[in-house]
Amino acid sequence: MISAVLPTYNRAPLAFVSGEGSWLTAEDGSRYLDLGAGIAVNALGHAHPALVETLTAQAQKLWHVSNIYTIPEQERLAEMLVARTFADTVFFTNSGTEAAELAIKMARKHHYEAGQPERTQIIAVEGAFHGRSTGAIAAAGSEKMVKGYGPLMPGFTQVKWADHDAIRAAITDRTCAVIIEPIQGEGGIRVVPDQCLKGLRDLCDSTGTLLIFDEVQCGMGRSGKLFAHEWAGVTPDIMMVAKGIGGGFPLGAVLATEAAASGMTAGSHGSTYGGNPLGCAIGAKVTEIVSEPAFLDGVSQKAAQFRQGLEGLVASHPKVFEAVRGQGLILGLKCVVPNADVVKAGYARHILTVAAADNVLRLLPALNIPEADIAEALARLDATATDLENAL
Ligand SMILES: Cc1ncc(COP(=O)(O)O)c(C=O)c1O
Repeated sequence: MISAVLPTYNRAPLAFVSGEGSWLTAEDGSRYLDLGAGIAVNALGHAHPALVETLTAQAQKLWHVSNIYTIPEQERLAEMLVARTFADTVFFTNSGTEAAELAIKMARKHHYEAGQPERTQIIAVEGAFHGRSTGAIAAAGSEKMVKGYGPLMPGFTQVKWADHDAIRAAITDRTCAVIIEPIQGEGGIRVVPDQCLKGLRDLCDSTGTLLIFDEVQCGMGRSGKLFAHEWAGVTPDIMMVAKGIGGGFPLGAVLATEAAASGMTAGSHGSTYGGNPLGCAIGAKVTEIVSEPAFLDGVSQKAAQFRQGLEGLVASHPKVFEAVRGQGLILGLKCVVPNADVVKAGYARHILTVAAADNVLRLLPALNIPEADIAEALARLDATATDLENAL
C-alpha cells in the first residue's frame, strides 16, 4: 500500500524534534552533528536567536497580504539585495525551482521584447541541477530526472561542464541564454574555474546571450563571498537564489539587471506567496547577518580549518576518500567506497552528511558553525571512515 506521504524519497529512519546551532536532536533524545544543514538551507544553523526573534515578531504583526499590495518588508529585502549585488531588480519566489522558472521566462521575454523572438534556446551544462519543474528538468536534462515525464519543454541543450569550446560551438543566433551553477551542488561540488566564468561572460557579451547564474546552493555566503561568482570578478545578467536566503523559511529570488528584466512588466509574472511579509522579514535578517564582511571572512576561516582536516582524512583513509572538492563551506569528499555507505555509516557516528552525484559526499554545514564543532565533525568523519575500512 502506498504510504500517506508520496514515496518519492528514500528517507533515512531518523526523525528530529529540535535543533540548536549545528546540532539536531532525534526523537530518542540523541544528538547529531548536522553537516547537511537541510541541504544548504540552514545558513545560520538551527533556531538562530535573531531569526527566531525576527520570525516571532513578524508573525505577531503580519504574515501574508499577497502581491496585490505594496509590501514594505519585500521592498526592504529587494533594496538590500540590489545594494549588495550586480542586480537592479528582484522578484521573490518560494523555492529555487520557481526561481529557475522565472529566470527562463525572463531570459526568453527579454529577447522577445527586443525583437528577436527566435532567440529561445537555453544552454545548460551536464550534471546541472536547477529544480524539479518541467522547465528545470528540461534545462538540466539528466535522464534520471526527465525519464517518463515527456514531452519535455523544448529549447534546451546541454554541453559538457566547464568546456568553453563546447559552449562557444553551441551558441547560435537562436541562443537566448546560458545557465550555469558557479559551483555545482547536486552534480558533485564542482567549482567552475574563474577563467571559465570570465570566458563565459565574454562569450555571452560578444553574442548578446544572457548569462544566468544559479546560486541557489552556492550563494548567500556559502562560498565565503556573498555570491560565489564574486570570486571570478564577473557578474551575471540574471541570478537565481533560494535555500540559504530564508535560513529555513521557504524563500527564493531572481535577481536581474534592468536590461535583462526589460521584458517583465505588470502581469507578465506572479506568485501568491512569493515575497510575503513573513518570508521577507526573515530573508532580510539572514541577508543582514550573512553579508557582513566579518561574517564572510569567518566562513573562509572556518572553511580553511575544515578543508585542512578533510585533506588529512583523505591522506589517512585512501580506501574511503579520494579527494576534497569545493570552496568555502560548500565542500565535497570524492569517495572511493559508495558515498551512500559513508552517509549511512555516519548516522551510526551521529554525523549527518548528504550524498551528491559523482560519488561525492557533500559537507554543507551552517555558515556559523563553531570551530569546536568542525573539530568534532572531523573526528566523527574519521571514526566513520575507520568503521568503513574495518568492514572492507
Ligand atoms: C543549484 C540548484 N538550483 C535549483 C534548486 C532547486 O531548488 P528548490 O529545491 O528550492 O526548488 C536546487 C536544489 O537543490 C539547487 O541546488
